[in-house]
Amino acid sequence: MEIKKAEFTLSAPMESMCPKDTKPEYAFIGRSNVGKSSLINMLTGKKNLAKTSATPGKTLLINHFIINNEWYLVDLPGYGFAKRSKKEVQKLEQMINGYILQREQLVNVFLLIDIRLEAQKIDLEFMEWMGTSSVPFAIIFTKADKLSASKVLQNLNAYKKVLSETWEELPPIFVTSSEKKQGRDEVLDYIEQINKG
Ligand code: GTP
Ligand code: MG
Repeated sequence: MEIKKAEFTLSAPMESMCPKDTKPEYAFIGRSNVGKSSLINMLTGKKNLAKTSATPGKTLLINHFIINNEWYLVDLPGYGFAKRSKKEVQKLEQMINGYILQREQLVNVFLLIDIRLEAQKIDLEFMEWMGTSSVPFAIIFTKADKLSASKVLQNLNAYKKVLSETWEELPPIFVTSSEKKQGRDEVLDYIEQINKG
């Protein structure tokens, strides 16, 4: 799919303040610093569309980006950032969970996972929560450029093995690098297929 236009729409602290629109939305979620905002920039080909940072906790609101005037990419705050007060963690959790559960036009969540790490409890639990809430999701492994191709495959297979302990059917899985623009066509084609219905 060709990205002809990608523009920031608005930032909102809760679902009810998100754009009043019915176009399909694709949201990016995952631990702080996993590369959600970088991936949005890579997919749209706009380097500074979503704000990124080497320090975790950069994205703190629900950010909508309208693509080709037809659908939205949604950048969410990360979860699991240790250096936060309990109150802050709860606030962000409410923001993320509320958006995911209430947003009717949300057609798919992309859960981002750092390909370098072994399966983390917090991500597995988030997947289970989406499963029980009937939220369609796909997994995007990030930062593939940080490992050799063989190590990427090894980690990918190890992760699939962990997933198959809980999931009868594995979700769609993508391997990406925002640095090397790897996985761009695959993710965009997947979105295009869903948009076509
Ligand atoms: P929060 O908004 O804080 O939750 O983080 P985020 O998930 O949006 O991460 P962000 O896109 O801001 O990226 C975090 C850091 O990882 C930045 O320093 C990025 O440059 C780096 N990064 C993201 N994706 C990649 C990638 O594919 N490869 C490499 N090498 N670095 C990446
Ligand atoms: Mg971010």
